[in-house]
Amino acid sequence: MKALILAGGEGTRLRPITHTRAKQLVPVANKPILFYGIESMVAAGITEIGVITGSTGPEVRAALGDGSDFGASITYIPQDAPLGLAHCVLIARDFLGDDDFVMYLGDNLLEQDLAAFVSAFEEARALPDPPSAQILLKRVPDPHRFGIATLDAAGHVVGLVEKPADPPSDLALVGVYLFDAAIHEAVRAIQPSARGELEITDAIQWLITNGRRVRTELLTGWWIDTGKLTPLLEANRLLLEKIETDVSGTVDETSSLDGRVVIATGAEIVNSTIRGPVAIGAGTRVVDSFIGPFSAIGDRCEVLNSEIEHSVVMNDSRILQIPRLEDSLIGREAVVERTTRRPRALRLMVGDHCQVDVE
Ligand code: TTP
Repeated sequence: MKALILAGGEGTRLRPITHTRAKQLVPVANKPILFYGIESMVAAGITEIGVITGSTGPEVRAALGDGSDFGASITYIPQDAPLGLAHCVLIARDFLGDDDFVMYLGDNLLEQDLAAFVSAFEEARALPDPPSAQILLKRVPDPHRFGIATLDAAGHVVGLVEKPADPPSDLALVGVYLFDAAIHEAVRAIQPSARGELEITDAIQWLITNGRRVRTELLTGWWIDTGKLTPLLEANRLLLEKIETDVSGTVDETSSLDGRVVIATGAEIVNSTIRGPVAIGAGTRVVDSFIGPFSAIGDRCEVLNSEIEHSVVMNDSRILQIPRLEDSLIGREAVVERTTRRPRALRLMVGDHCQVDVE
């Protein structure tokens, strides 16, 4: 069994962060989203991993290397343009050979580990009338926003529709798929959709139409497609809920730590309150400040006389004299500062596609 992890794409819904950075490398709970996916593959016993890269390929390669840090062996497969999820399978043909594989969207996060889903597919493949694919489904309250499956009485997929106006069920496709080699014929047979992409839902539908069986597994834990701000902050919250206290940095006697808090090596907390779950990166200084629940502050940041809650602050940024920062995603090397300069005014240098909410 191999894995194909998709780390290309445009990431338009996470601009401006994705103007300069792969969305799969945005940190949640101070770890890049993509690392969770690679780690769950390795935990499921899959170490031969192909990674699809787009325009941010060099950054993805620099972050993952040859995979040995994860106990995996990584092969990079560059995609010239984001032509669709099924296009990723098409260009990975040589890497995948005729092996079964897991396809995993690099910006997705799952609470459950994948091992049980992988072994369920392998067991079903050993029985008579084996399935050619397995999809993961999750019940959602708003099915019109997702790819939705219709099942027969035996639980096999009979149809798939993308973002239906009139949803046939509430079973959404989660970004993890298992395939055998039949998918290669399917991705060659389908045509680009109205949005110009080779859709994986069309390829799976092709398998069904051509007499192949597609089995399903129902996900009970959370699943988040982190491609937008609100789900990204939600993922950060859910992952911080799982951290264990680990204080390697220094905390002075006028500071207090409540709840589960990670203070990395070289971080310094001075005259501040940290109310967990919170993660503070290496070399970060927090002075005269309050860091509230569900905040992840990256490495080498500076927080002075400020209050931060439910936010992600990436490496090397500075938050200075800000009375309250909430529900925010701050990129790298950013400065958010309140000044007393006259005239009193907002002075902004804000990049393209930013959003600034002024209290
Ligand atoms: P999406 O989030 O559907 O697409 P996107 O990354 O282009 O984002 P946006 O819609 O905001 O512009 O992609 C899901 C995952 O698959 C994501 O990790 C990117 C990856 N991907 C590829 O690697 N190649 C592709 O051709 C596409 C469409 C996506």
